[in-house]
Amino acid sequence: MKLSAEQIQANWVEFNSNIEEHITGDRKQKLLDFYQKYEDRIILMPASHKKEYHSAFPGGYVDHVNRVVKAALSMSAVWEGFGCDMTTFTQEELVFSAINHDLGKMGDEEHESYIPQTDQWRRDKLGEEYMHNKKIAFAAVPDRGLFLLQSHGIQYTFNEMLAIQTHDGLYDSANEKYLKSFMPETKPRTSLPFILHQADMMAARIEFEIEWLPKFTQNSVDAPKKNYTLTGNIKSSKTKALNTISSPGLKNMLDSL
Ligand SMILES: [Fe+2]
Repeated sequence: MKLSAEQIQANWVEFNSNIEEHITGDRKQKLLDFYQKYEDRIILMPASHKKEYHSAFPGGYVDHVNRVVKAALSMSAVWEGFGCDMTTFTQEELVFSAINHDLGKMGDEEHESYIPQTDQWRRDKLGEEYMHNKKIAFAAVPDRGLFLLQSHGIQYTFNEMLAIQTHDGLYDSANEKYLKSFMPETKPRTSLPFILHQADMMAARIEFEIEWLPKFTQNSVDAPKKNYTLTGNIKSSKTKALNTISSPGLKNMLDSL
């Protein structure tokens, strides 16, 4: 699946406007500065390395995060409608957690986590459009994301730490200590982690449906989804949206847009 250069640019504007609208205090500018610093990497990041997962295409990361922010706000309203205690977290904590839940996927300050797959066989047979960058030490996505925030002086609350840490729910067994407790005193004191997890799961599931269900209907693995075909003056949009890119790997990906 491919996003048009215009869609990638629009997604980036929406990503930053979510920070402008929902984040307060001095961390708002720090967060904007952080994402501006790494803009040329984040704007084209995939959301995963393998096309069988979700949004493994240029721009897939921001597309996914924006969907999770929207889903988190809607999911929060559903929980409220069913009587959830909304005093245990703030809307800012909800949106901050959603914006940064997958931040660890970007890699470290120097290196991207995912780089274009160089093995054509793995691309063709295993659907691995990207491969893990061996230059960076392993860390779980939530751990790396929280590390990046703290190392750039961006403070987060206890609720945000817990929500980002456990956003994969029980798909990650490391979260059992928080989510599989049978003792009331060791359960989370807020529903925020559950709301974020549901939003993330829903977004990933819908991304799967957008990308894969049409291919199943057409019995094809190559048919692109209509909504994501290229439109307009691609050359000028590419230049306008992505003219600051310095990474050779990302420039190669851009060539395929
Ligand atoms: Fe996610």
